[in-house]
Amino acid sequence: MKKIIIAIDGFSSCGKSTMAKDLAREVGYIYIDTGAMYRAVTLYCIEHNLFNADGTIREEELKTQMQDIHISFRLDAETQRPVTYLNGADVENRIRTMEVSSRVSPVATLGFVREALVRQQQEMGKDKGIVMDGRDIGTVVFPDAELKIFVTASAEIRARRRYDELKAKGEEASFEEILHNVEERDRIDQNREVSPLRKADDAVLLDNSNMTIAEQKEWLKRQFDKAVHV
Ligand code: DC
Repeated sequence: MKKIIIAIDGFSSCGKSTMAKDLAREVGYIYIDTGAMYRAVTLYCIEHNLFNADGTIREEELKTQMQDIHISFRLDAETQRPVTYLNGADVENRIRTMEVSSRVSPVATLGFVREALVRQQQEMGKDKGIVMDGRDIGTVVFPDAELKIFVTASAEIRARRRYDELKAKGEEASFEEILHNVEERDRIDQNREVSPLRKADDAVLLDNSNMTIAEQKEWLKRQFDKAVHV
C-alpha cells in the first residue's frame, strides 16, 4: 500500500494529537507532534533565561542558540507513547505545564524559530508514512500532503478537555485561567504574521465538539482508507 503524509492542523486542545497518535499506531506510521517542538524551544528559553520580565524573548540570544537546541522523539518502551526529548533529556511532562502553555505563543511567532523547526519537520517526513499535527502542516510544512484534516471545537469544550487532563495528572488548574489561555492562544495563532493558523483549501474540516474519541478515531481511519486507495 502506498505511504502518504497526513497533515492534521487545528486549534489548541481540540484533541488533534489523540486522534493523530491513535491513527499512527493503528496504521504503523510515525507520529510527530509539532506543538511539542515549539513547547521544547519555549522550555529551553525558560531554562536559559531568554525571557525578559515582560514576557518578550531575547531574540538575538535565542537566534544564536538555536543550533544548540536538539529536539527528538522516542517511543516509550512500556506505553509505546511518543516522548519528547530536548538535548537528550526527557521533557515530555515539563513541556505540558501551564507555564510553558502561556509562554509558547510568542516563541511560535518568531520567523527564525519556525524556519528551523519547519526544516526539521520536512526532513522527518521525507520518506512519508507520517502523521504530523500542528498549525501549519497542511499549509506550510507539507502543502502537498495527500490527506489534510483541519480540526476544531468550541473554546469551552477545549478548555474543559485540557482542565480534565491537567486534573487527571494531579496539576493545579483553574478552568477560567485555562479558558483564557485557550482563547488567547487562538487569537495569537490566527493573527500572527508568520504562518497564521488557517485551514488549507483542500483540508477536510472536522468539528469534534460533540464527538467521542472513538467516533473521531473511526472518522479519521475512514479518511485515511479513502486517501490511500485513490
Ligand atoms: O498544539 P500545542 O498546543 O501543543 O501547540 C503549542 C503552541 O505551538 C501553540 O501556541 C501553537 C504553536 N504551534 C505552531 O505555531 N505551529 C505548529 N505547527 C504547532 C504548534
